[in-house]
Amino acid sequence: MAKIKAKLIIQGKEIELPIVQGSMGYPAIDVSSLHSNTIKTFDPGFSSTAECSSSITFVDGGKGELLHRGHPIEQLAEKCEYLDIAYLLFNGELPNSREKTGYIKSIKEHSLPHDQLNNIFRGFRRDAHPMAVMVGVVGSMSAFYFDENMKVNNQNHRKLSAQRLIAKVPTIAAWSYAYSQGRPFVYPKDELSYSENFLNMMFSTPNTKYLQNPVISKAFEKILILHADHEQNASTSTVRLVGSSGANPFACVAAGIASLWGPAHGGANEATLKMLGEIRNEGRINEYIKRAKDKTDSFRLMGFGHRIYKNKDPRAIIMKATCHEVLDELGLRNDPIFKLALKLEKIALEDEYFVKKKLYPNVDFYSGIVMKALGIPNSMFTAVFALARTAGWVAHWNEMILNENSKIGRPRQIYTGKLRRDVPNL
Ligand code: ACO
Repeated sequence: MAKIKAKLIIQGKEIELPIVQGSMGYPAIDVSSLHSNTIKTFDPGFSSTAECSSSITFVDGGKGELLHRGHPIEQLAEKCEYLDIAYLLFNGELPNSREKTGYIKSIKEHSLPHDQLNNIFRGFRRDAHPMAVMVGVVGSMSAFYFDENMKVNNQNHRKLSAQRLIAKVPTIAAWSYAYSQGRPFVYPKDELSYSENFLNMMFSTPNTKYLQNPVISKAFEKILILHADHEQNASTSTVRLVGSSGANPFACVAAGIASLWGPAHGGANEATLKMLGEIRNEGRINEYIKRAKDKTDSFRLMGFGHRIYKNKDPRAIIMKATCHEVLDELGLRNDPIFKLALKLEKIALEDEYFVKKKLYPNVDFYSGIVMKALGIPNSMFTAVFALARTAGWVAHWNEMILNENSKIGRPRQIYTGKLRRDVPNL
């Protein structure tokens, strides 16, 4: 079969470009040879650019479909635990029972951070945002695992680093919060599940026991599953870009955490709760809806809209169901902030502006509400997202290194500055 090509005519010159087609999704024009014709492509925000090929996650924003290694998110959320998904993302297949036992054992073994890491926490101000602490502490792990212990071209080292990150990031996240509260660090416990362990490190103290509630730990597990990976978003692309230079994986993931922190990405659930706090009562919803629609006002309805999903976000549908389960279990349906959130959702979903622009609540609208109901403070919302997304980051980092066509990321630019000029005699 003849290879399909696209034809570019530029300044009277014809250039044939190959079309690349993945196993699903729409085709891409391979423009990688353009630089040899001294032509660049211009695509701010990479809206039309596939930076890599990947077999980890498929998203069809039009259909509202999300697949990890071919498995629909709805089935994964129903039948699997977060660690099954972390294993799936990295290895390509769900673990069998022997593999799962071995994997969980390894994660538990690595959940304890190096004792020296305690000192790194102590260098931060107490009022530092937990994400700022996480960027620093996760990045500092590159000082513990390097050289002979961490060769990025060694598959066993990559696998071990991935497991270390998945194992230790929950401890680091929980300790970031404990530190901000002036509380002693609670250590991981092997008898608890991954989710229970995080909740225990967050909420127990040396003098009080955290009582596990299965509805709560299941809801937390759902948050982790739904945030585990989402193909080439800002933070994952950041991890790949940083990793493309051969950088240490702990430094790469720290860069991913930094990218995730922004309110247009992982900070959206925290921003949603902040916005609800500002709206305060149902009578003011319309004023905020009006502001969100006003082009002269920079305000946007946080937790609404998505770059890729122009239909419903499938994760939001699952998170919405979990949200209702949690509010019922905890008797919070009449809590003012939750009532306000549900009312806002209803009004926006019926508003012509949001309907026409296909702006649906995204997963972070509901995950923020669920986390608040679970007692997780707003400042920790993005940290929880980071701990979930670690599974995706390490899988993409590993895939990028395994791909023999990978090269260092080096985007081009359109220069708009001054023309060449001489330095005056001063
Ligand atoms: N409130 C009001 N209007 C909005 C919103 C919103 N939340 N989101 C998009 N719009 C409008 C834009 O003003 C724009 O209108 P226009 O066509 O008249 O100019 C139109 O909808 C399209 O918006 P874009 O910014 O082009 O959409 P994009 O795909 O670039 O942005 C984004 C997606 C950043 C998520 C945006 O919807 C947003 O800012 N939402 C609020 C923040 C948020 O919830 N982020 C979480 C993302 S999910 C995640 O990270 C897991």
